[in-house]
Amino acid sequence: MSTAVTVGIIGVGHLIRHMVPAMVRSSHRFILSARGRKTSSRLADQYDLEIAESNQDIVNRADIVILSVRPFDAVAVVTDLEWRDGQTVLSFCAGTGSAELALHIAPAKLVMAMPVVAAQFKESPTLLYPDNMACRTLLETCGPVIALASEEQFSPASVIACYYGWVHELVGQVSAWLSEHGIEPDVARQLVAQMTRAAATSVRERIDTSVEELLAELATPRSFTAAGLEILHREDSFAPWRHAADHLVDQQKS
Ligand SMILES: NC(=O)c1ccc[n+]([C@@H]2O[C@H](COP(=O)([O-])OP(=O)(O)OC[C@H]3O[C@@H](n4cnc5c(N)ncnc54)[C@H](OP(=O)(O)O)[C@@H]3O)[C@@H](O)[C@H]2O)c1
Repeated sequence: MSTAVTVGIIGVGHLIRHMVPAMVRSSHRFILSARGRKTSSRLADQYDLEIAESNQDIVNRADIVILSVRPFDAVAVVTDLEWRDGQTVLSFCAGTGSAELALHIAPAKLVMAMPVVAAQFKESPTLLYPDNMACRTLLETCGPVIALASEEQFSPASVIACYYGWVHELVGQVSAWLSEHGIEPDVARQLVAQMTRAAATSVRERIDTSVEELLAELATPRSFTAAGLEILHREDSFAPWRHAADHLVDQQKS
């Protein structure tokens, strides 16, 4: 008979609030850190989970310890704790790599992941490095897991978790434009959200056709799609998206 994996969570905030509803679908046992008591208590009540006395209590009992504190707190939080061999620290801390964390959690091993809050709906494309079966099994409750080949790839790839946020702004702007043209706000929101999802689904599913070709099928000469796209390119609308991504990678290097 296999024994349940114990998952401890240090840092029960915004991200974890949206991941726990998905992760509890696994057969794992979960222990939450007490800090952020309001969220911990709510999750503990809702999903019948345990709240630990201290972070060391979590480390003593968990096979996998999720670290989900803010990046600038991460090193201080793990440095105070005594880790053990055979244990895995699954860090969600953006921009905090193995050079900063691995030494402080030895002899436990570090695995890094970058989920997003759509985990709640099993829609988080979660980055993982290095690939690790136990972490993959846990994170797959939240959506597709995408393992990377090297840690160098983690920094630029994790910028896409911010892109996930930026798309909300785009959806909001386009929805507002629709509302200004007489569409009820809730109808506008649904239409734009579903159209965004429809484009993403085409790109995800039609993998034998390049994104350029998919677009060329839509933006045919004299089409409305092509006319709008011409204006977006003329006004250099996509360059700022690259600048924002470059900025975040530069920030992670400094
Ligand atoms: N939110 C997202 O969508 C998202 C997406 C991808 C990655 N991430 C990463 O996930 C991490 C968490 O982000 P978040 O948005 O969930 O932040 P958050 O809402 O601020 O949650 C962090 C939690 O950690 C707690 N904490 C701080 N020090 C602690 C300690 N010593 N022991 C136990 N808990 C402690 C905080 O408590 P206090 O409030 O009392 O300080 C807070 O409840 C970050 O590193 C972020 O980069 C977040």
